[in-house]
Amino acid sequence: MTYTNPAAYECFMGRWSARLAPRFAAFAGIRSGERVLDVGCGTGNLSRALIDLAPNIDVIGIDPAASYVDWASRSLRSPRVRFQVGTAEALAFADAAFDAALALLVVQELVDSPRAVREMARVTRRGGCVAACKWDFGNGLPMLSLFWQAAEAVSPDAVARYRANRGIRPDYPGPDELAALWRESGLSEVRTVALGITMEFDSFEDFWLPFLGGATALCVFAGDLNDATQGAVARRLRETLASMFGVGGFALPARAWAVVGVVAD
Ligand SMILES: C[S@@+](CC[C@H](N)C(=O)[O-])C[C@H]1O[C@@H](n2cnc3c(N)ncnc32)[C@H](O)[C@@H]1O
Repeated sequence: MTYTNPAAYECFMGRWSARLAPRFAAFAGIRSGERVLDVGCGTGNLSRALIDLAPNIDVIGIDPAASYVDWASRSLRSPRVRFQVGTAEALAFADAAFDAALALLVVQELVDSPRAVREMARVTRRGGCVAACKWDFGNGLPMLSLFWQAAEAVSPDAVARYRANRGIRPDYPGPDELAALWRESGLSEVRTVALGITMEFDSFEDFWLPFLGGATALCVFAGDLNDATQGAVARRLRETLASMFGVGGFALPARAWAVVGVVAD
């Protein structure tokens, strides 16, 4: 889907990616003095984690969504980071221009992922790393599973139609497919790992209202279905969460798959 609303994205998933980003940067082994490409930078959460990692890491973030690039440029002002519009499949950089190329929560969006990974390897120097990380949409994101359970209970037909129209397997690519993609792209020393985080919510509203901001296709669906059912999705979800955690704040875990490989000699 087209990403058009960076403010809504920040409320919905930005806090999750901000928490995941330092874990991913550490897994990729980014070191002081490196020049890093943040592919699909979105609102800039990985770029922020990278420049916070060490005082002399430089970052360029690229993303096809001009409004996200604008948001990132305005919210992260540093002489060590620059954002520009661009796509992973056609990176506007010279061969070996970076020490590392990273993509956080982007692989599932790519039109041509083999081409994108080859491009990330091309712009990375020999011995540098190419890494990506994506949520485990199959089993690793209770935040979304709980929403889907509520939506299915309220309107199974609408959920089936949404899934059929999207035509994608939520668990794809998993760690094995990511590793295969990395090896087929010529990368060596390929490793995958599960990265876990926990997110706290002050209240049911803190959890639910970001679903209604239209940030992603799922959010548009959630808002429309909730309206069409006079709030039944929200009521169901509130009941489920209250049965699990009682009334008030709660925390949910999340798991992402990460893959890293080294550009071979
Ligand atoms: C889920 S968001 C992740 C953004 C950011 N990396 C983060 O972790 O918060 C997915 C991002 O991928 C970008 N994207 C979609 N297609 C892309 C492509 N072909 N090349 C690069 N980025 C792409 C979107 O514009 C969006 O900003």
